[in-house]
Amino acid sequence: MAPNPKQIAGERAADYVNDDMIVGLGTGSTAYFAIVRLADRIRREGLRVRCIPTSERSATLARELGIPLTSFAETLSVDVTIDGADEVDPAFNLVKGGGGALLREKFVATASRAELIIVDEGKLKQRLGAFPLPVEVVPFGWQLTQRRLQDIGCEASFRSSDRGPFVTDNGNYILDCSFKVIDDPPALEREIVATCGVVECGLFTGLATRIIIGKSDGDVEERTEPGPLD
Ligand code: 5RP
Repeated sequence: MAPNPKQIAGERAADYVNDDMIVGLGTGSTAYFAIVRLADRIRREGLRVRCIPTSERSATLARELGIPLTSFAETLSVDVTIDGADEVDPAFNLVKGGGGALLREKFVATASRAELIIVDEGKLKQRLGAFPLPVEVVPFGWQLTQRRLQDIGCEASFRSSDRGPFVTDNGNYILDCSFKVIDDPPALEREIVATCGVVECGLFTGLATRIIIGKSDGDVEERTEPGPLD
């Protein structure tokens, strides 16, 4: 069977977890493999950890797999978080939120000493922006927030699901903002989060500490310093 790059990256990241760590559990199809591997290590090695999930989906998976959970009511810092991304640039800027979990993902990332980002090679981009940037907005007056975001220079599409509006775990909506190319990710992140009606945006700048890249030939590459892509 051909190697699965997401699985390779996810499993490698789970090996960075040690006893007594508080671990942030990411969301998405790549984070899934890290969570499964972590559960496996807990079962086989007796690894002692407590985890904070970044979504209800990951919380449910973790509970099903018997992973001990905790929350910010019990701890204010996280040792390591393992999460996926939709795009990664050479400076370790990220686009996240394809799965709609960006607010809790950023919340946990900002509390984490180490943020391990697990991706396949296709997520590496010279410049961010081809993937529409998810922005979480309050439902009240979302149409005005949409207009304000479009005034920044994007096409902002309201995210829907089969059952109507896509509603985040926090009861908010998502606007997927197509900028095509993002020239200055930190400046755009600041501008978007300063927009009234916006709760958080899927640009993550200055947060990733290690990028773990699963490859289709079964190899895995790790980057700890920003630098040019091959
Ligand atoms: C969810 C996310 C995910 O990490 C991102 O969308 C990548 O997902 P996948 O690993 O399924 O490609 O940000 O909000």
